[in-house]
Amino acid sequence: MDTVLVTGGTGHLGRDLVGLLKPAYQVRVLARSRGTDPEVEWVRGDLATGAGIPEAMSGVRTVVHAATWSPAARRGYVLPTDLLRSPPDVDVDGTRRLLDEAARAGVDHFAYVSIVGVDRSRLPYLRLKHRAEELVRTGQVPWSVLRATQFHWLTDRMLGRAARLPVVPLPTAVEAQPVDTADFAAYVARRVADGPGGRCDDFGGPEVLTLSDLLAQWQRIRSRRVRTLNVPSPAPVRRAAHHLTCPTGRRGHITWATWLHSHTPE
Ligand SMILES: NC(=O)c1ccc[n+]([C@@H]2O[C@H](COP(=O)([O-])OP(=O)(O)OC[C@H]3O[C@@H](n4cnc5c(N)ncnc54)[C@H](OP(=O)(O)O)[C@@H]3O)[C@@H](O)[C@H]2O)c1
Repeated sequence: MDTVLVTGGTGHLGRDLVGLLKPAYQVRVLARSRGTDPEVEWVRGDLATGAGIPEAMSGVRTVVHAATWSPAARRGYVLPTDLLRSPPDVDVDGTRRLLDEAARAGVDHFAYVSIVGVDRSRLPYLRLKHRAEELVRTGQVPWSVLRATQFHWLTDRMLGRAARLPVVPLPTAVEAQPVDTADFAAYVARRVADGPGGRCDDFGGPEVLTLSDLLAQWQRIRSRRVRTLNVPSPAPVRRAAHHLTCPTGRRGHITWATWLHSHTPE
């Protein structure tokens, strides 16, 4: 069995991906925490310092790099500082460290998980992801870049946090295309089987919804309420949000409503 290294294998996408890869590959996960699944090789490491990377890369044919560090995603809401900067040590420096080690180890395929629209956004976190894509594209290891739209779990977490606030300003006409990690993981797993594909088709959810629709479904299914203040959605804001969708790309089949019905809030 070939060995596939999954960074971020303890995260939302990573857990789904590891489950899909296990029947066909020896799966190794590099993470700061150690998992419990005995069918997985766990290597404790830290992309921000480089610890564990040489050990994790030994004998590996394919790397799926799905680790990331987004403070806003972790806490479930955006602070003004997130609009000014995002820490680069995992997403940029960690990607560089992984690529250097992958080249040394003779890895055949480096698959980088990214986000739709990173090349057209000014948000600091998305700019970091774009810088990481460029490192992958210009590196020595044959590569794939696989971009997805925002995951359902993150939308759910953000609305859960918003429901605790007295009022939330919301540009309700803005569109989003949330996608399930299980759908996207299946797409990534196919890429692992097929080998390096360069810049692959974007992958999004089955529906493009306005924030108003998205919120209405969440409130109905979660039986919770977010008190919103409708704010205008000027053309530049709508355009910036549109760049984060991919209506003509590949699509998953798990809708926002189906996902909400089958997942309890974290
Ligand atoms: N969330 C979204 O809406 C979305 C949308 C499109 C694409 N993506 C991309 O999809 C990928 C996975 O996202 P996700 O939402 O599944 O992420 P997630 O659930 O937040 O998981 C992040 C993963 O990164 C690992 N990690 C964080 N810091 C690390 C460090 N210093 N060293 C090693 N590992 C570290 C975490 O492992 P430990 O904490 O156990 O170390 C965890 O496994 C990322 O590349 C992300 O940019 C996300």
